[in-house]
Amino acid sequence: MKQEKIKVLNLYAGIGGNRKLWKDVEVTAIENNKEISRIYHDFFLGDKVIVADAHQYLLEHYNEFDFIWSSPPCPTHSKINFLLKEKGKKVTYPDLRLYEEIIFLKVWFDGQWVVENVKGYYNPLIKPFESGRHYFWSNFNITNMDITKKVRNDKGMTLSVKMKERDFFIKNFHNYKGDKRTLLNNVIEPKLGLHIFNCAFKEKQEVLI
Ligand SMILES: C[S@@+](CC[C@H](N)C(=O)[O-])C[C@H]1O[C@@H](n2cnc3c(N)ncnc32)[C@H](O)[C@@H]1O
Repeated sequence: MKQEKIKVLNLYAGIGGNRKLWKDVEVTAIENNKEISRIYHDFFLGDKVIVADAHQYLLEHYNEFDFIWSSPPCPTHSKINFLLKEKGKKVTYPDLRLYEEIIFLKVWFDGQWVVENVKGYYNPLIKPFESGRHYFWSNFNITNMDITKKVRNDKGMTLSVKMKERDFFIKNFHNYKGDKRTLLNNVIEPKLGLHIFNCAFKEKQEVLI
């Protein structure tokens, strides 16, 4: 009998670092930048890629999926804000849509879910799992996260060295106008993405047994 594929919603998909090593899944990816969504699509031809607001999409479609991964933008939470303030930039509120999604998923979603962000400049309002420079909130146990190699983030690193370092070779940027190196800085280490995905379903299998 043919097994049904796990239906995954990949929110704030970027170029798909977290998704790179997932196999036998049916993925819907949401990204609001058209050029980035095209780069993503080149890597994952079988995924359904939608250019839309991920926060709104979650609200309207969460119950169509088995697994949801969300990577909301980190700039308003990041420790970099201290540095920017020192340089004279105006400070702003942290974008609490991050916590809206965590609470929403926790209460209303029956499947497995994970929300990822950087370690912020304030104590997290809900306790996360931690790995390297990231926080992960989820409804399953995430263990042994120190499996990933340390990627370098040197400022002077060229784009091609960065692609090699992250094992992500973008051939066509589809006229993307932003900083190309940031696209690569944003990726979740694929091995960590796979490990977290496996943690979600290992626990489920153990419960079934
Ligand atoms: C941190 S990156 C995602 C990295 C990705 N998880 C990975 O591992 O490669 C966040 C992405 O969300 C996109 N984005 C920001 N706001 C968005 C929104 N409201 N809806 C959809 N995508 C959004 C950005 O363009 C960016 O590509």
